[in-house]
Amino acid sequence: MPESVEVIDDDSVRIIRMNRPEKKNALTQPMYAAMTAALAEAGKSDAIRCVMFAGVPGAFSAGADISEFLESAKTGALRPRTIEFLNALATSGKPMVAAVGGLAVGIGTTMLFHCDHVVASTDAKFSTPFSRLGLIPEAASSLLAPLRMGYARAFALLVMGRQMSAAEAKEAGLVNTVVDPAIVDATALQAAREIASLPPGAVAVARRLMRGATDNVMAQIETEVAHFKERLQSAEARAAFEGFLARKK
Ligand code: COA
Repeated sequence: MPESVEVIDDDSVRIIRMNRPEKKNALTQPMYAAMTAALAEAGKSDAIRCVMFAGVPGAFSAGADISEFLESAKTGALRPRTIEFLNALATSGKPMVAAVGGLAVGIGTTMLFHCDHVVASTDAKFSTPFSRLGLIPEAASSLLAPLRMGYARAFALLVMGRQMSAAEAKEAGLVNTVVDPAIVDATALQAAREIASLPPGAVAVARRLMRGATDNVMAQIETEVAHFKERLQSAEARAAFEGFLARKK
């Protein structure tokens, strides 16, 4: 069976590809763990100078796996691998590029606020249906989205669950470049190689200066996690998860 996360080093670019096409790249605990490990290893390697996240044709990621949400709702179990991944994203010492082809739902969108450069396909769709699922924003998006795109757009995305097109995401400052779906990975890889070709010390310091201290981002993740955990156990969330998993197509 193919790995649900593939890690390939293309010279100095580490490509982390989510690869669960049959579930539109819905993310499971083992997938989060694999991505965290790949990021941590890249952080320690002098040879890797940039990390690129990619998906499968038509799906960057459909977000967290809702069956795992339901499991957490029933058992109260934490989803520790998700939290570790969020912390790894927030503290990554290497620049991160994303190639978003098609769907980017939930964490598929919110992880992009941590990326340094985002390429999207013309048919990319960004959405975070948190409220409809009885949930709240995660990945420090409740802090980073209003800063990046202004409160009005962030509220429509994060709370109202309105979908953003690639063009709207570019206009909002979430996406750098919008290209044909056939060249989304190649264009992102080109950008990643461009970053990797720069003097790494200068890039690292510039990045730290631009991103500022990560303390407030980490604190926001922690606060969101506490609310998220409480929300996961709510009757409205549980009904929404069961509704999704039982839906007729
Ligand atoms: N968790 C678990 N399974 C998921 C999933 C998710 N987040 N997203 C998609 N899947 C599964 C579907 O249940 C389906 O499985 P099945 O073939 O065994 O029935 C398969 O992936 C393909 O999805 P499907 O819904 O048929 O594709 P689509 O193109 O019609 O719709 C989405 C794609 C992403 C719009 C839709 O699947 C969806 O809304 N998913 C939930 C997204 C979400 O709420 N994520 C959590 C955010 S916090």
